[in-house]
Amino acid sequence: ASSGDETATFSMPIYACQRRTTLDHRNAVFTEALSLLAENAELSQDEGRAVAFRRAAATLKAFPEPLTDARQLRGCPCLGQHSLSVIQDILENGSSREVEATRRSERFKAMKLLTAIFGVGAKTAAQWFQEGIRNLPQLHQSGRVLTRAQQAGVAHYDDLTQSVTRAEADTIGQIVEEAVGAKLPSARVTLVGGFRRGKLSGHDVDFLITHPEEGREEGLIPKVVAHLEARDFLLYHKNNRNSYTEASGTPASTMDHFERCFSIFKLPMPEGGEPHSRQDDVALRRGECRRWRAVRVDLVVCPFSQFAFALLGWTGSKLFERELRRWATQQKNMSLSSHALYDNKQRKYLKAATEEEIFAHLSLEYIPPSERNA
Ligand code: CTP
Ligand code: MN
Ligand code: MN
Ligand code: MN
Repeated sequence: ASSGDETATFSMPIYACQRRTTLDHRNAVFTEALSLLAENAELSQDEGRAVAFRRAAATLKAFPEPLTDARQLRGCPCLGQHSLSVIQDILENGSSREVEATRRSERFKAMKLLTAIFGVGAKTAAQWFQEGIRNLPQLHQSGRVLTRAQQAGVAHYDDLTQSVTRAEADTIGQIVEEAVGAKLPSARVTLVGGFRRGKLSGHDVDFLITHPEEGREEGLIPKVVAHLEARDFLLYHKNNRNSYTEASGTPASTMDHFERCFSIFKLPMPEGGEPHSRQDDVALRRGECRRWRAVRVDLVVCPFSQFAFALLGWTGSKLFERELRRWATQQKNMSLSSHALYDNKQRKYLKAATEEEIFAHLSLEYIPPSERNA
């Protein structure tokens, strides 16, 4: 219907898992502003607000043209009053006062810096902030007792706050494949997380491991870890055993129960390569040959029958996953997790060997990994 003005109204589906969201889009100024507010809400442990801003950012990531007028957004979902006022502010003034004030605030800066330490979440950082701790030297002076993970996080802070390249991810992939192949031939290693979605850099590297004969994958993590340790590839690791049973109830929870390892790899650097971190420079000046960098790596092992669910669950993005689960619950009366899909009406688990089959069970059009960047 003609509405008398030129802006075409265009309809966007409500759930991010109904949309194709690529890495590049037309509205970075807006999505970065909304993402910063989402991050700030996460750091304040205000989950509801964080999700609202994440959804608003995702709407703009999927918006097909550069935004020049708020009227273009009519018919777009998930844009609340708050997000719209931020958008309006940017349209009128080139930036949002709230966003810029948040970006500069002492609390936001300190919380970002502290949660960038591996092993430090929003809760711990908030407690430290409360006690006046704003940076690493102050943390050190405070004499706080750190967990083993946090100690590793502090020791490798410079490396771990530098993003991982695709080339580094591929090198780590070769190391992981060699270790897995040595311990369990014909096991399969799949790169998941942001790199599977086509990202060119990431904060870590995620791998999903399985074996076509169900059961053979059990207890693989400790063996792979021992293999990697013997070759001096690990700076830190924490293993978790598989704790999943169908009896543990409907699989609606966000946390999965796979056998896994959260680790920090010691990645050798190519000879003659640029020194990567400040620690490297220091070491080289001391005459030590310290040509490696620390990289966060997640290893997850799943039984073959759960592979499609684990693959879907570990590919992300986090918002895309959240929206898939919300769709399943609200629109299909089903419970989706990284282990299984349960149909509450039929009271049975729905099997799937591929991601395509899971989308089909959910009556969703298949969205490939590169278009799950919500
Ligand atoms: N994930 C999960 N359980 C965890 C941690 C992560 O299911 N305990 C899932 C997330 O939902 C996400 C995927 O694993 O879909 C990858 O998580 P993460 O590495 O944190 O994010 P990426 O999308 O890979 O982004 P980045 O490049 O920053 O690593
Ligand atoms: Mn952290
Ligand atoms: Mn990742
Ligand atoms: Mn990860």
